[in-house]
Amino acid sequence: MQTSSLYVHIPFCDRICSYCDFAKVFYREDLVDHYLDRLEEELKELPATKMKTIYIGGGTPSALQLHQLERLFQMLSSFYDEKTIEYCIEANPESLTHEKIDLMIAYHINRLSLGVQSFNEELLKKIERVHNKDMVEDVIFYACGKGLTNLSIDLMYGLPTQSKEDILYDLEVASHLPLQHISYYSLILEEGTKLNNEHYEGLSEDEDAYYSDLIVNELEKMGYHQYEVSNYAKGDHESEHNKVYWHYENYYGVGSGASGKIDNTLIDHSRALFQYIKGKDTRSYTTLSEEDTMFNHVMMSLRLLEGLDLCDFYERYHKHVEEVYGKAIEKNKDHLVIENNHLHCTKQSLKILNTILLDFLD
Ligand SMILES: C[S@@+](CC[C@H](N)C(=O)[O-])C[C@H]1O[C@@H](n2cnc3c(N)ncnc32)[C@H](O)[C@@H]1O
Ligand code: SF4
Repeated sequence: MQTSSLYVHIPFCDRICSYCDFAKVFYREDLVDHYLDRLEEELKELPATKMKTIYIGGGTPSALQLHQLERLFQMLSSFYDEKTIEYCIEANPESLTHEKIDLMIAYHINRLSLGVQSFNEELLKKIERVHNKDMVEDVIFYACGKGLTNLSIDLMYGLPTQSKEDILYDLEVASHLPLQHISYYSLILEEGTKLNNEHYEGLSEDEDAYYSDLIVNELEKMGYHQYEVSNYAKGDHESEHNKVYWHYENYYGVGSGASGKIDNTLIDHSRALFQYIKGKDTRSYTTLSEEDTMFNHVMMSLRLLEGLDLCDFYERYHKHVEEVYGKAIEKNKDHLVIENNHLHCTKQSLKILNTILLDFLD
């Protein structure tokens, strides 16, 4: 299978949020410079191909200084051409200056994914975010005014003290912004995070399902369709890069903490940042059996409302999905639908996907 997607991890943040377990350390100028040196070497190992999608994630890519960002974009420019359908970068409102937005646009970034989490300033302080609603509005209207037509924000629910009214307020504020996409995540309590250490308990399953329904319905009224467990788009503005993961296609993953997939091999960089900077190969390679590859493919694709493409499944494994997972499909016949050559969850059963998937492991 061809590989035409590239993920680049920037593991630096100005602050560490109380819920976050992603690979990151505090921003330090000299560390970032050394990191970019090493990233440049790793990028040289890749074949000289143009990518369909490029995604710079973090950490906080916008925490880099302007000249560091420019260096990063120059390093990536050989992977871009006019056929690159999506070139996306994650950013935090407090560090995304107008100059950085101008620079991104000059280097062909066409999608911005902004970490907002909430517009409620009390709540933002509790989770140790340092931006406010005005900063978010400022960068979104600036980016929109400069012609960026693919703007996304991340929101979260299930945060400490967050009420139904708080969620409705966040949705109300979002409804006035020129956005094309919203990722709305249910808080996952990760080991080792401050929130988890403080024994915050999070939502019960029923509460989670209640808020999830509320969000789906409100976003639909605002013109966003749900296309994945946590993702909503207007029109055709679904995340093309993330769909590569959900379709279980190939992608390169570059940088400390990044992961890639080439056919049935998973390539994971450890989070050992200093080892990475020193030039040590921090990658581990896992070759999956066909059984595991098929399961991962199903697991990822069932996250999409469109579901698993059955023709693609047959082309890849020369087996019909019913042949492999007939029992699991039969057992979940109230939750799964086969139509238009796709196997998919219903909107309701998407909420119990993890339970459904257990049957696919049997
Ligand atoms: C890892 S961050 C990177 C981008 C950027 N630094 C930011 O804060 O938005 C990407 C998104 O993951 C989500 N996220 C991080 N930790 C999470 C958790 N424990 N549970 C649910 N979503 C989480 C947040 O919505 C965040 O915006
Ligand atoms: S949520 Fe974003 S800003 Fe906060 S610690 Fe995680 S990666 Fe950094």
